[in-house]
Amino acid sequence: MLEKKIQEIKKQVLEAVEKIRNSQDLFDLEKKFLGRKSEFIGILKGLKNLSPEERKKIGELANKTKNEISEIILQKKDSLGAPLDLEKEKFDVTLPGRRKGRGHLNPISLVRRDIEDIFTSMGFEIADGPEMETEFYNFDALNIPKDHPARDMQDTFWLRQKHETRNTKHETKMEGLAMRSQTSAGQVRYMQTHKPPLKIILPGKCFRNEATDSTHEHTFYQFEALVVGEKITVGNLKMVAEQFFSQFFKQDIKVRLRPSYFPFTEPSFEFDISCTVCGGKGCSACKHNKWLELGGAGMVNQNVFVSAGYKRNQYTGFAWGFGLERLAMMRYKIDDVRLFHSGDLRFMRQF
Ligand code: FA5
Repeated sequence: MLEKKIQEIKKQVLEAVEKIRNSQDLFDLEKKFLGRKSEFIGILKGLKNLSPEERKKIGELANKTKNEISEIILQKKDSLGAPLDLEKEKFDVTLPGRRKGRGHLNPISLVRRDIEDIFTSMGFEIADGPEMETEFYNFDALNIPKDHPARDMQDTFWLRQKHETRNTKHETKMEGLAMRSQTSAGQVRYMQTHKPPLKIILPGKCFRNEATDSTHEHTFYQFEALVVGEKITVGNLKMVAEQFFSQFFKQDIKVRLRPSYFPFTEPSFEFDISCTVCGGKGCSACKHNKWLELGGAGMVNQNVFVSAGYKRNQYTGFAWGFGLERLAMMRYKIDDVRLFHSGDLRFMRQF
């Protein structure tokens, strides 16, 4: 008799739960079937009056069913979600919307994209190389052997490996791996897999272990240009450079080459352009020099071609490497290179 009653109650709960659509009704249902004064709890309370066998049998069934009913109600609660609080949900549809902040490109990216556009329009390919570079490509292949003094001018970050056992901890240098100090590191990499004639630019991040100041950062960008063929001359270097800078600064730019030294070019040049502010007449921006210093350039040293697997004296070519920050500083009149990577939004929002 009691068994039937218990099963009947469970059936009623199942049917009633199906129709529940809100938390208040579910609360009422729980009270009706499991509340202190409910028929079901009445049965549990009456167990003590039954014979020991009956008490065991009915007790087990009642407790099991009570747990099942609680579980059914709990699941329904979950499916209904949080009770709707109309007071809290209220909102004023007449309020103006909140403006979403939009990001934009860093000035270095703007400059880099412009450079890439100009060079691809001149038929150059954009090449890439790894930032973590081998000592061979960054130095040796560029005619800078281990004991060469030029290595000191480009001290970089050498990679170390951590060794840890239960009792010891130490670090060792990873033989021959460093963060590249110049995009020139990509020259031989590219030439090893491509035959001349070739015209590439290679923009990318470089690293140097040096004290920072308003014109030097430990992490900065360069872009390399490399043109190799059978009769490439300094005249080609100058012409391509004048074309590029005139387009980049949207005015006529003259290029001046001064003798310099890089182990991977022969002859080598320091590279100046006519002042972009006064057009080469002399002003405070160029310190009345008429010229602005830009970077290094030269005719590719034959030893570099040999590193790339080409025959000595079969080809000639020119190369240069400029700082992207330097160009961005000139274009946007920025006086401190450290601002680019400072993460200062007051600076970034100006572009
Ligand atoms: C070089 O890195 C050569 N690889 C350039 C080159 C390429 C010469 C091909 C010949 C042929 P240099 O160390 O001068 O040269 O660097 C070139 C430019 O990179 C500099 O003029 C400057 O604009 C930029 N640069 C160099 N070091 C830093 C630095 N620490 N912070 C910001 N810009 C830098």
